[in-house]
Amino acid sequence: MSDFHLKMLILVTGTSRGIGEALIHHLATVQRAKVIAVSRKQVPAAKQHKDILYVKADIATEQGRALVVKAVKATRLPLAALVNNAGAMLNKPFGKITPQQLSDVYTANVATPFLLTQALLPQMVKGSHIVNIGSMGGVIGTAKFPGLSAYSSSKGALSVLTECLAEELKPRGIAANCLALGAVQTEMLKAAFPGYQAPLTSAEMAAYIADFVCTGHRFYNGKVLPVSSSTP
Ligand SMILES: NC(=O)c1ccc[n+]([C@@H]2O[C@H](COP(=O)([O-])OP(=O)(O)OC[C@H]3O[C@@H](n4cnc5c(N)ncnc54)[C@H](OP(=O)(O)O)[C@@H]3O)[C@@H](O)[C@H]2O)c1
Repeated sequence: MSDFHLKMLILVTGTSRGIGEALIHHLATVQRAKVIAVSRKQVPAAKQHKDILYVKADIATEQGRALVVKAVKATRLPLAALVNNAGAMLNKPFGKITPQQLSDVYTANVATPFLLTQALLPQMVKGSHIVNIGSMGGVIGTAKFPGLSAYSSSKGALSVLTECLAEELKPRGIAANCLALGAVQTEMLKAAFPGYQAPLTSAEMAAYIADFVCTGHRFYNGKVLPVSSSTP
């Protein structure tokens, strides 16, 4: 049995760059977890870490989700945590958003975390933690910005999905929380707020998220928690 079978197993989506990439490295090196990193892109061998299993899959498709489930089952470990981090940004005036663009954003930010969580539920046990990566824009009553109607409303749906999951999974002892992030310096932030300098790097936010993934479900369940010190 390889070393991969000995530790806590955590799966993160959207790991090719930004917060997801920083998160898998923090989880593997600081939290000493076994990590499954799911991305549509192949990670070059030189960039790979020995405690991270890289799965190349498009989780927007049923085949992609099946690949992810297969990889989790192959570890023969229960899935201690699932981090739905992959997300798509669209910065476009409301009146100009096409049906296809709306569908793409909702697929990436709502339907995919919904269906992936559903597919992975059988691998989760009492004590498992689902962490959805939401946005401050997806919280009712927060500041909203022009151009982000599709993105922010999709993150709003993810917030409510989290509350629903927590309620429905309570009998199984599985917790679900949503971290509503403020600005973090990534490619996505550049697309949403060109020229804006965020107060946090991906690595700084990843360190906070990693700790929350491992311990947050002892303190929170069904919560949408703002993680933000700025507007945006
Ligand atoms: N940065 C911020 O200020 C900020 C603020 C609030 C919330 N967030 C949230 O934090 C999460 C990570 O964001 P980030 O800033 O690190 O973004 P990023 O740098 O753009 O990275 C996003 C990741 O999501 C995946 N992804 C992108 N488009 C996708 C699509 N259409 N379908 C499936 N996967 C897709 C990509 O993974 P692959 O290409 O490898 O598949 C990519 O690695 C997102 O959910 C985002 O909404 C970020």
